[in-house]
Amino acid sequence: MSERTTPEGELERQFERTVAAEARIEPRDWMPDGYRRTLIRQIAQHAHSEIIGMQPEGNWITRAPSLRRKAILLAKVQDEAGHGLYLYSATETLGADREELTRNLIEGRQKYSSIFNYPTLTFADVGVIGWLVDGAAICNQVPLCRTSYGPYARAMIRICKEESFHQRQGYELLMTMMRGTEEQRRMVQDATNRWWWPSLMMFGPPDGDSPNTRQSMAWRIKRHTNDELRQKFVDMTVPQAERLGVTLPDPELRWNPERGHYDFGTPDWAEFKRVVSGDGPCNAQRLAHRRKAHEDGAWVREAAAAYAARRSAERKGAA
Ligand SMILES: [Fe+2]
Ligand SMILES: [Fe+2]
Repeated sequence: MSERTTPEGELERQFERTVAAEARIEPRDWMPDGYRRTLIRQIAQHAHSEIIGMQPEGNWITRAPSLRRKAILLAKVQDEAGHGLYLYSATETLGADREELTRNLIEGRQKYSSIFNYPTLTFADVGVIGWLVDGAAICNQVPLCRTSYGPYARAMIRICKEESFHQRQGYELLMTMMRGTEEQRRMVQDATNRWWWPSLMMFGPPDGDSPNTRQSMAWRIKRHTNDELRQKFVDMTVPQAERLGVTLPDPELRWNPERGHYDFGTPDWAEFKRVVSGDGPCNAQRLAHRRKAHEDGAWVREAAAAYAARRSAERKGAA
């Protein structure tokens, strides 16, 4: 039966059956408007985070302490650019316009992860970002490999493989520094102190304060709540911190044998709201840098469009 003659109700039941059976929704399938809008918003926000996320570490490429560290860092930052491009492509399969999404980002209408609004003060920050920020991203993103929208789920499989390289390179850098001088160990501890709480905030507000979670879980876009993922991250990270020999800056952090999880303190949600709403230490700088990069790239986009137009005219002429 063609789509035109199928009643809307039947399409919706088909959509729900597909989601319930853990099969994937593909770009040509019918989907509710809200599902499409939610996905475009979520994937765009994710893409923006990958692109803006290049800046804090990119800041250290020219000052990496050795050729090896520079090569690793360059590869990592380039991976993040690739993740952004994949994800913008995924939004295009939903009918979004990449140019418009970029405008939404640089004009401040769409958000990116609040974590990238904090400064990178020393080279230890590069290691701690790999360990904690990419580590938190992995907790968030591994379940997205099973998200109900096919192109997003498939993009996440490749992205997660690269994120796990990012996490390891960060941890390896920190291990090296911890085996170094007293000054290097101090740098690692200081970077850990600064990044720990913002990393916990990466999972979003507490479940009671996250209005979209229930619908996203019903659509199987989201597979776990913010608090479940945050707990998973804490449980995974505490033994890594012990192994590394750093202290996580939370006096309430302790193993709870009854729950079988670590208890931990409450992030400063007022700070989170401030940073999300644009008032973090680096928000203005990050957006200004992105805007300038976009403007500087205008000639490339114009040249590519002119070339594509000429090629298509030539093809028509030849036909
Ligand atoms: Fe990434
Ligand atoms: Fe990454």
